[in-house]
Amino acid sequence: MDRSQDDAIKPAAATVSYHEHVAVPDYLMRHYWWAYVHPKAPRVFDRLWLINLILLGNYHRMRRAALAEFNAPELGRVLQIACAYGNLTPKLAKKAALQNGDLDVVDVLPVQLRTLKWKLPKRTPARLLRMDSTALHLDDAEYDHVLLFFLLHEQPVEVRAKTISEALRVLKPDGTLVICDYGTPAWWNPLRYLMPPFLALLEPFALSLMRRPVKDLLPPDMTVRHTPFFGGFYQKVVATRAGSASN
Ligand SMILES: C[S@@+](CC[C@H](N)C(=O)[O-])C[C@H]1O[C@@H](n2cnc3c(N)ncnc32)[C@H](O)[C@@H]1O
Repeated sequence: MDRSQDDAIKPAAATVSYHEHVAVPDYLMRHYWWAYVHPKAPRVFDRLWLINLILLGNYHRMRRAALAEFNAPELGRVLQIACAYGNLTPKLAKKAALQNGDLDVVDVLPVQLRTLKWKLPKRTPARLLRMDSTALHLDDAEYDHVLLFFLLHEQPVEVRAKTISEALRVLKPDGTLVICDYGTPAWWNPLRYLMPPFLALLEPFALSLMRRPVKDLLPPDMTVRHTPFFGGFYQKVVATRAGSASN
């Protein structure tokens, strides 16, 4: 993507740009129309108490865990792939504004980008871009940090692999990929046995993410830091290329 024009005038508030030719993926229409695609979905679901309930009381913890990876005084260029309900992105945008960062957020649904624009504090410049995570219209090695917050579990296995490959393509060689999502619960965690029937109904692709460590989805030359939460039911994975300065 040609950023020369965008960079010439740094926006004082979030700007939204839509690539109208981006199609809404089939799995979103089929399984998540009620949660994201329906025009009223953000009004129904974008409530802290509700998303905290959906994450079994772990939303604030996971949001804090994600934001803890963005503490560098010079953040550089940050990309969040997919909007998320709640206040993660407004907080990330504030950090970017205070720590010499530029935040871009992509999502495939205009309704989600519009909702995010409305949520972002006024003086936090961010670019909100309509793109599919599997085919980002972004240059190689553009970003210092890429964040995937609870996106991968919503994607079928082959889509998930493409999303990760795109995230790594746009990441600088010494950049950091941060993933927060469902994990593999420990054998002693009752959720390991109780949750699959519910997930099979509501989040059908989450089960495949729970079965396979995220590390296995990343290239073998990456250095991976894995932190389990809630007995492993959730996880944070921070990946850098081996030998990069961030290790
Ligand atoms: C990140 S996940 C949601 C995480 C969690 N439920 C939350 O809100 O905190 C949901 C977002 O991912 C977006 N999304 C799903 N598939 C996508 C894709 N292929 N490309 C870009 N955005 C996608 C949806 O439009 C939605 O805004």
